[in-house]
Amino acid sequence: MCGIIGYVGKRKVSQVLLHGLKKMEYRGYDSSGIAAVSAGGLKILKSVGKIENLERKYSETPIEGIAGIGHSRWATHGVPSEINAHPHKDCSGKIAIVHNGIIENYGELKSDLIKKGHKFISDTDTEVAVHLIEDCYDGNIEEAVKCALPKLKGAFSIVCLSSDEPEKLVFARMKSPLVVGLGKDEFFVASDVIAFLSFAREAVYLENGELGIISPEGLKIYKFSGEEVKYKTSMILWNADMAEKNGFKHFMLKEIYEQPASISNTLAGIITNDGFSFSDAHIDLDLIKKVRRISIVACGTAYNAGLLGKYFIEQIAKIPVDIDVASEFIYRESLPCDDSLFIVVSQSGETADTIEAVKKVKSKGSGIIAVTNVVGSSITREVDGVIYTRAGFEMGVAATKTFTAQSLVMYALALYLAEAKGILSKNAIAPYIAELKLLPEKMEEILKNVKNIRRVARMFHSCRDFLFLGRNLNYPLALEGALKLKEISYIHAEGYAAGEMKHGPIALIDCDCPVVVIMTKSFLYDKVISNIKEVSARQGIVIGVASEDDMEAESYTRVLIKIPSASPYASAILAVLPLQLLSYYIADVRGCNIDKPRNLAKSVTVE
Ligand code: F6R
Repeated sequence: MCGIIGYVGKRKVSQVLLHGLKKMEYRGYDSSGIAAVSAGGLKILKSVGKIENLERKYSETPIEGIAGIGHSRWATHGVPSEINAHPHKDCSGKIAIVHNGIIENYGELKSDLIKKGHKFISDTDTEVAVHLIEDCYDGNIEEAVKCALPKLKGAFSIVCLSSDEPEKLVFARMKSPLVVGLGKDEFFVASDVIAFLSFAREAVYLENGELGIISPEGLKIYKFSGEEVKYKTSMILWNADMAEKNGFKHFMLKEIYEQPASISNTLAGIITNDGFSFSDAHIDLDLIKKVRRISIVACGTAYNAGLLGKYFIEQIAKIPVDIDVASEFIYRESLPCDDSLFIVVSQSGETADTIEAVKKVKSKGSGIIAVTNVVGSSITREVDGVIYTRAGFEMGVAATKTFTAQSLVMYALALYLAEAKGILSKNAIAPYIAELKLLPEKMEEILKNVKNIRRVARMFHSCRDFLFLGRNLNYPLALEGALKLKEISYIHAEGYAAGEMKHGPIALIDCDCPVVVIMTKSFLYDKVISNIKEVSARQGIVIGVASEDDMEAESYTRVLIKIPSASPYASAILAVLPLQLLSYYIADVRGCNIDKPRNLAKSVTVE
């Protein structure tokens, strides 16, 4: 949450900052600000609302310099307002900082600093950091930041600018992401590479406890303890095009349409001639043969993909799997089990709760692998191995293509485990792999036929409540369908295991309540039909998502959305597409801000 950026170079500094902030708006978007040092000293521009408001201010009062810093905010401490927007400055007005994260001991630091005569104007935790730096300042900004850092507790990445050294930025990372971009005679530092994709092809990912300096002379990185770090540069694999809408009305729609490609790419990364390979995950085959339990931990949509993974792994590899949302897992007394493997699923690799879960697992000495989309993200540095989804950059706040890519990885992992444990032979796995290769084509078919889904969206966009039901592999899809609808359309929606409906939610059903039932063919089909009948008997409106070859489905449902026929496993990856599209078109008819839903941020870096 919150996006921070810094730039040193010859381009128009504020334009680079504004461009970067717009690209990172998905991280937070209630207010924003930039700072640069010109002949008249440190200048700051701030604005509430979208970055466009800040751009408007900039066009009226441009500020420029050799170096500059910027911030887009997702409020934690203090309401969205110009006063609380970053950059924050010290009492002298010479030093400014931007910050992402939470400074947990800001209360005590603030009282001490007030006693020393510092004047605070905002309600933020960030302001203590700049006053602390001022307190340490003796003409050298680098030394002042080094002196202030050990006093800060919590999660933070900061970038600091001083009007006494206007060509230099000092930055530091502790638990919140920060990456440096290396251009030709220009340097960037930001929460995410997306901020400088158009300008730099090489990046240096900072580790926790590292501090860096960029100036026209180059980049230096030190440990907080003062020792210089020999940093490694990485090529940036994403390109600037991924951060453009390319003719689509919203990023979310573009990303829904990118799913055939994202599935092909993810598959290409893990498939071999006759099976799967997870070389980056460093999965030890001897350990896998001994694994007695798998625990999956994740949040939000990634949790739903993890839950689908539980069904895949239990049914295919016959290994018991438990699953937790990370925010519960970290404070739960989880009982240790020998020979267990943990899997964390996180699109961004930066979710604070999931990172804490990883730390908890590591402290107990269990093996842990991550399924993530972001190379070099915090989680990848903490785990024993990584399986990358190759979905490309996901800009829409509502996750779509990463959900299907994560689901695919979980399915492939289940097959891999089954083979490693001798449950399925290579020959037996071949037809599953053949079917996986058909997924992109089947997804294309769904995406070509959205007319019916748009019609359904127009029919039900004004309903106040929705229920989503599914059994077994389709239960996680019901959760995901409901999550998508509520986050982008603000319609109340609940996802339920279809068999659980009669234990409570059935009370909600009446003639105004659409009930989306994922009813693709499986061994539980008849039981799902019974659940549908229970809904219809109470005048509920059943919207079915069924397989193309299901000739009975029409007779059970008021409205029907069909998807290409496939095995129950492959159907579970396909059937989420109509749910994503339904949410998208409902939100669009309602005129919602689809790519930036209220109160949400893409990367949730606070607990
Ligand atoms: C929903 C959504 C969130 C994320 C959740 C975890 O559309 O995107 O629920 O899935 O915040 O984020 P990651 O996967 O980055 O750990």
